[in-house]
Amino acid sequence: MAEKVDFNDRMLSLGLARVSEAAALAAARHIGRGDEKAADQAAVDGMRRQLNLLDIDGVVVIGEGERDEAPMLYIGERVGTGRGPAVDIALDPLEGTTLTAKDMPNALAVIAMAPRGTLLHAPDVYMDKLAVGPGYPPDVVGLDMPADARVHALARAKGCGPEDITVCILERPRHQELIAAVRSTGAAIRLITDGDVAGVIHCAEAEKTGIDMYMGQGGAPEGVLAAAALKCMGGQIWGRLVFRTDEERARADRAGIADRDRIYSRDEMVMADVIFAATGVTDGSILAGIKREVGYLTAETILMRSKTGSVRRMIYRNPVK
Ligand code: FBP
Repeated sequence: MAEKVDFNDRMLSLGLARVSEAAALAAARHIGRGDEKAADQAAVDGMRRQLNLLDIDGVVVIGEGERDEAPMLYIGERVGTGRGPAVDIALDPLEGTTLTAKDMPNALAVIAMAPRGTLLHAPDVYMDKLAVGPGYPPDVVGLDMPADARVHALARAKGCGPEDITVCILERPRHQELIAAVRSTGAAIRLITDGDVAGVIHCAEAEKTGIDMYMGQGGAPEGVLAAAALKCMGGQIWGRLVFRTDEERARADRAGIADRDRIYSRDEMVMADVIFAATGVTDGSILAGIKREVGYLTAETILMRSKTGSVRRMIYRNPVK
């Protein structure tokens, strides 16, 4: 009898890199073309095709939306060949559709895989997020702390002044007060226009990116993907769902969220070992974007496993047919 393959199997995890790679390559011809929808659709098609070649019995738990609004890679869709380990899949074939359409930095194709039942089924609502990189004591900051207190606490733990801390925040009108509170401490803010999965990942490589902390409201599905990345790279993230309408509360009910006010830690969003892959679509501080030359496309992928703490970077030069 064939040996039972674990989801953490080395070859299977390599296959996950091909999945994010396929999505990014498919989106390549839409970079800088001003059409978010076409870029997203191409990435979805590319990711789904490659994902369905993997020997997994997968269920999408973080995907393109609920079944009635997303025809492909919707929440609950079965993916993979069905032969292999039972896994949860969290994905975003194109994280940063506008970034891609405008050829702005840090658009990514991302996917995470964990044993069945171990990824939070976050509904498509906002999540208030707070993240820091590795090396800090547990709960060095918290979502219940005011923003200025978070900066002071992190500065103390880092052994520097608040003016040496840089916080990454999505530039949105809803963040006006948050931005003012962080600025009142003297800390610097890197405002991003989109792409908070990359925003959070930046904290895990603070020396390279210059970002110490991520704060603010972004998509809840992106929160789970970011938690998966930090579980592999080290670092802490907390998230609390934000509901603006009854329809959003109903989404949470459908996703099985019992306590709507709960603050989720990293390990409550990603409850077991996880494998995470991301491929750069546009250039960024974590990954290079897709490079085009006559006859070839080149993609850079990061593949990480929380079980081993391994981080593998791969460059793929692909002849264009
Ligand atoms: P898309 O790739 O779906 O456009 O999402 C990009 C993004 O910036 C996420 O990174 C972030 O979590 C979310 O949108 C923020 O939502 P909003 O644009 O509504 O503030």
